[in-house]
Order: sequence, then structure tokens, then C-alpha cells
Amino acid sequence: MSKPVALITGGASGIGLALTQHLLGQGWKVVIADINDRAGIELAKELGPDALFHHANVSIYKDQTAMFRKAFNWGGNRLDFFAANAGIDDRQDMHMRGDTTDENGDPKQLDLTTMDVNLTAVIQGCWIYKHYARRNAEPGGKIVITSSVGGLYASPVNPQYCTSKYALVGLTRCIGPPFLENENIIVNAICPALIMTALCPPEIRDMFPKEQLTPMSTALSAYDRFLDDGRLTGKVAELSIEKVIMREQVEFATENQKWQMVDALKIWRQTY
Ligand SMILES: NC(=O)c1ccc[n+]([C@@H]2O[C@H](COP(=O)([O-])OP(=O)(O)OC[C@H]3O[C@@H](n4cnc5c(N)ncnc54)[C@H](O)[C@@H]3O)[C@@H](O)[C@H]2O)c1
Repeated sequence: MSKPVALITGGASGIGLALTQHLLGQGWKVVIADINDRAGIELAKELGPDALFHHANVSIYKDQTAMFRKAFNWGGNRLDFFAANAGIDDRQDMHMRGDTTDENGDPKQLDLTTMDVNLTAVIQGCWIYKHYARRNAEPGGKIVITSSVGGLYASPVNPQYCTSKYALVGLTRCIGPPFLENENIIVNAICPALIMTALCPPEIRDMFPKEQLTPMSTALSAYDRFLDDGRLTGKVAELSIEKVIMREQVEFATENQKWQMVDALKIWRQTY
């Protein structure tokens, strides 16, 4: 029987790289999709024939379709798992002081690259994965989205990052149950607290007390849980030091809200 195949965006560093190594150790084939060619090419050499590096900028739709096509073909017409993991912090500080005016006296457009990479690309990725999961020998598959603790609690420092990660929690809860019901795909998310990776600016790394950091092993145990349990979907795992805590959405404030969001689904479905 052929080996299971994973596609990991942002697989050349940090959490994505740790997941790559973890899955290779469990007998998977892994496609590392990343913009960092130098690291990716070196890693593919180092990690052996079950790892493939593929250059892809996830914010470019054509890069994503090419990346999925490559992974599916290289994997022998199977793609069991998609880790939508690539993410970046804010590229422009929304709180910046000073002049932001262009030559016409209008405010210059804010750089929203973070939203493109962290949010739009993940939505497109889940959309494209569905196409390939349908073509697996047994149709279906698994998605784990990397949100963040910043997707559960507000952090004013990186507002785009935080907004995109909140949205990923929403995306997971919205598509998780229907993807399982309609496509046999489970969709879950992890929300790590601070894990020391290249994402953390080097100039502040030493300022964080070691006891406040979440070890990579916590992230890997959350991935294992989602990969081992084929029925968990729409779930959001908060990671804090050694704890993996499943977080439910906020409670309904009134019976009316519950009616609108649960009972009224059958009405909405008559249109959509
Ligand atoms: N490290 C943490 O504390 C932490 C906490 C919560 C969530 N996260 C999330 O975990 C994910 C992985 O982050 P990390 O900490 O491993 O960071 P990292 O910087 O070590 O790795 C991110 C990888 O994504 C790649 N990447 C960036 N933009 C890309 C693009 N447009 N297309 C393809 N690849 C791209 C980078 O080249 C890099 O290899 C991110 O989504 C991040 O937001 C990290």
C-alpha cells in the first residue's frame, strides 16, 4: 500500500518543519510548500526521498493550484492531509504615527499582505483541497489550519495578524461540519501560544521567559489528535504550554440567537 501524503504550507521552518519531520517519522510522504527556496531545497536533500520541496507563494492562486497538483501527482494520486500553516505577521503597522499622506493628500493604502497570506490563501487552499480530496481512492481527507492564540484573544500589536487568525477560527467552525458531511473531509484548527520560531522577531526573543513558551511537542500532539480521530471536525484546539484545550464558540446570549444560528438553518438552506 502507498504511503499517506501530506501537503504542508510554510513547511520549511518552525511549526511546519516540525510537523514535516514528525510525519516523515511516522511513514508519511510530505510536500513542503514554501517561498523560502534556499531552506526548502536544503531540507528536501536532508530529509530524503519521502520529502519534496515545492516553491509556492500561497497568496498567488496559481501557485496554490500548481502546488496541489504537484502534491497529488507526486503522492501517487493521493493527498490525505493539508496543513494550511504558512503565516506572517503584520507588514505595516496600523498604529504608525507620522505622515501617511500620498501626493494627492489621500491616506496611502495600507499593506494588507498579511490578510492575503494568513486568510485569503487559507480559504482558497481549503477550496482547492476539496477538489483533490474528491479524487482520493477513498474520497475525503483532513485539513488542519494554523490559527493562533491571537485568534482567540485580542492582541493590539499585530491587528491584521490577529484579525486573520480570528477569521480562521470562524472558517474552521463554519466549514468543519459541512465538509465532513458532504465531502468526508475533517477541518480543524490549532491556536498555539508562543512557540519560539523564526516568526518571533530576533531582537525580542530573549525577552520572553522560557517558562512562558509553548513547546513544539504540544503542537505535534494536537496534530496527532486531529489526524488520529477521523470524526473530529470544526474543532479549535488552544495550545498553552503543555495543554491542548478544545475551545467551543461563545455561548448563545439569548434563546433568540440560538434560534437564529441553529433552528433557522433549515430556512437559510432553502436559499443557499
Ligand atoms: N510560533 C508561534 O508562536 C506561533 C503562534 C501561533 C500561531 N503561529 C502560526 O504558525 C504558523 C507557522 O509559523 P511559524 O511560527 O512556524 O513561523 P516561521 O516563520 O518559522 O515559518 C513560517 C513559514 O511560512 C513561510 N511562508 C511565509 N509566507 C509564505 C507564503 N506567502 N507562501 C508560502 N510560504 C510562506 C515562511 O517562508 C516560513 O518558512 C503561522 O501561521 C503562524 O501564524 C505561530
